[in-house]
Amino acid sequence: MTAAPTADTAPHQDFEVRPFDAPVGAEIVGLDIGRPINEADFRRIHRAHLDHHVLVFRDQQITPDQHIAFSRRFGPLEIHVLHQFHLEGHPEILIVSNIKKADGEPLGLGDAGAYWHSDISYKPHPSLGSLLHAQELPSEGGDTLFADQHLAWEGLSPGMQQRILPLKAEHSYLAKYEELRAKNPWRPKLSQAQIDKVAPAVQPVVRTHPETGRKALFVSEHFTTRIVGLPQEESDALLAELFAHSVKPEYVYRHLWAPHDLVFWDNRSLMHLAAGTPDELRRKLYRTTIEGDLPF
Ligand code: SIN
Repeated sequence: MTAAPTADTAPHQDFEVRPFDAPVGAEIVGLDIGRPINEADFRRIHRAHLDHHVLVFRDQQITPDQHIAFSRRFGPLEIHVLHQFHLEGHPEILIVSNIKKADGEPLGLGDAGAYWHSDISYKPHPSLGSLLHAQELPSEGGDTLFADQHLAWEGLSPGMQQRILPLKAEHSYLAKYEELRAKNPWRPKLSQAQIDKVAPAVQPVVRTHPETGRKALFVSEHFTTRIVGLPQEESDALLAELFAHSVKPEYVYRHLWAPHDLVFWDNRSLMHLAAGTPDELRRKLYRTTIEGDLPF
């Protein structure tokens, strides 16, 4: 029997990187994630990810194991605190879905991404990047928006840049949890063990990308609760100004999903938002989340 190709022996895949006519993002055309990817091809994908921050791989008919294996090439994977929505047998996959099971229980996290955020910024080591794979799409709605936080930083006045550069902010998974639960009572009540796993973390308000050295704004309406050391009123006013600035249309790419899209974004460069799906239409995606470094 011939051995299956590995990262060293896999044949080259002839793919193209086509930047979008948008502030961020590129489509990777001609790559099959389900086939082994050799080191040289992997390095090109990695470079494209650093350059464009969000990569779209169309029509990837991959299994959860292949999704996980590709994600792992970039680093160890996070296990999401909401174990209720792990894909059975694959705790590395979080189900993002508004579908209800036959017993009326939610299949997945239906309101994931309801506010702008960067994944896992509430942990000391926030995520490097996330990969969302379309399983079932609504006939309308369900788009995902991505905002470039390098451009957001560069778009601030020199005075504001100087003011916020030394600041730190608290991020908390619980910041909007009860508000979301009031709107969506299917959201599970967190156990004490779950709460203990998501103690708030303090992050720089401006972070430096560990691979490109570019600065990015790093606060979000979903998870950032306060600027450390500022009176609450001043902190609220500054955060409101930064939140509004960080998602200006000129920093945003809007992804319209197509069947079997795999979308891979850089949480160190971007924030994202789920635009929402009409309740009566079904939407299901699988998400892996790669662990990242300590921000600086
Ligand atoms: C997320 O925030 O991970 C989900 C985004 C989406 O469902 O579009």
